[in-house]
Amino acid sequence: MKKAYIETYGCQMNVNDTEVIFSILGRAGYERTEKMEEADLLMANTCSIRDNAEQRIWGRIEAFNQARATREGVLVGIVGCMAERLKNQLLDTGKVDLVAGPDAYRRLPELLRAIHPGAPQMDVLLSRDETYADITPVRTDRNGVSAFISIMRGCNNVCSYCVVPYTRGVERSRDPHSIVREACDVFSRGYREVTLLGQNVDSYHWTDGTETVGFAELLRRVAAISPLLRVRFATSHPKDISDEVIETMAEHENICKHIHLPVQSGSTRLLEKMRRKYTREWYLERVAKIRSLIPDCGLTTDVIAGFCSETPQDHRDTLSLMDQVGFDWAFMFAYSERPGTLAAKQYPDDVPPEEKNRRLNEIIQLQGRKSLERYRAQIGRRLQVLVEGPSKRNPAQLCGRASNSMMCVFPDTVHRAGDYVDVVVKDCTSATLICELTA
Ligand code: SAH
Ligand code: SF4
Ligand code: F3S
Repeated sequence: MKKAYIETYGCQMNVNDTEVIFSILGRAGYERTEKMEEADLLMANTCSIRDNAEQRIWGRIEAFNQARATREGVLVGIVGCMAERLKNQLLDTGKVDLVAGPDAYRRLPELLRAIHPGAPQMDVLLSRDETYADITPVRTDRNGVSAFISIMRGCNNVCSYCVVPYTRGVERSRDPHSIVREACDVFSRGYREVTLLGQNVDSYHWTDGTETVGFAELLRRVAAISPLLRVRFATSHPKDISDEVIETMAEHENICKHIHLPVQSGSTRLLEKMRRKYTREWYLERVAKIRSLIPDCGLTTDVIAGFCSETPQDHRDTLSLMDQVGFDWAFMFAYSERPGTLAAKQYPDDVPPEEKNRRLNEIIQLQGRKSLERYRAQIGRRLQVLVEGPSKRNPAQLCGRASNSMMCVFPDTVHRAGDYVDVVVKDCTSATLICELTA
């Protein structure tokens, strides 16, 4: 067997795609290695979401190219979103043998065979129906407890700042039967948690003409596999998350009480420019609905600082929304203009970099205080935790997540990865609950 080494960048969907790629490469006689030095094939599964994501990958191409120059027969492949976006530009460097977009992975064996000196290979065609439904991913997680399952690909929204619709193509939903099969399969192999992945899971919609399945129904089917299998999902879109989905969560003990609901901005004027198709008030109403049906629901978000034309008032609106909602955690970014997007074509990127960073820092500071508040509010509570394994900081302790997604650590010499334990929260930081097992 030859050996393939893949570095994965970007979102969880890319992590899952890498698992699909390992499965396909297996058929072509490649097995997975985590050691770059022994690999015959070096790949990066790439991300284009912000300029700094791409800059990192240019650095990796240099490193891969050096390995290729020192060892005979080593191939370098760039796959994923940046492969899709830059296409020939990657081949033109002369440092890459293979370029494959997110819908071309089935052809990897064929493309690899066709590579010859001076004849690199590329396939960046996007598909309307590829979901890799029949391919069993080679799991690359380290704990054997929590698996990611893609339920859809692509995105039909046109958020003006976002490159994803261009790199991933149109939205398509995967056959629910294959999703349930995959979840059953990982459960039977000892996994105790699945995370259903899509850019906008609320618009999951599959039909074969007689049967039609939406996201709430999919959740019910996966939750029915076993009460011991936890179900998570990401990402929800504020414009599409339905009462039915929130009710379904509330009705099922094993659907985790956590929603990642990216807000992007607290200013309705900017949300409109971003083409998010909701207002500040709509977002706050969705949060109120979630909290009325699931009072303890964990809530996290994404925020962009310094989008085109953002005024100090727009920025204050974002801060006030974050203050009002009190997210447990947020991913916070400075706006990065992406070539080809609506925003790049229509609006000047006119908030100066220093000002963007100043605003981003304010957002980060505020979220730090809010996280600490949210975590402190858990002190004294009893929570059920799914053990993932030894804590990274202190191997004498175990770690795992509560239903609301908060990371818990606790001294324990008895339980193992995959066990459910009851803990009581004693203390916290702004990202970890420090707990003890309850008697
Ligand atoms: N589908 C998800 C998010 C996908 S991208 C959704 O709709 O929310 C993940 C996050 O990256 C986005 O939520 C956004 O906050 C951020 N992001 C996307 N494009 C960006 C850009 N051009 N500059 C900065 N951040 C961006
Ligand atoms: Fe990008 Fe918007 Fe689609 Fe999310 S919903 S992937 S932000 S276009
Ligand atoms: Fe990045 Fe592509 Fe995911 S751009 S965030 S890897 S969909």
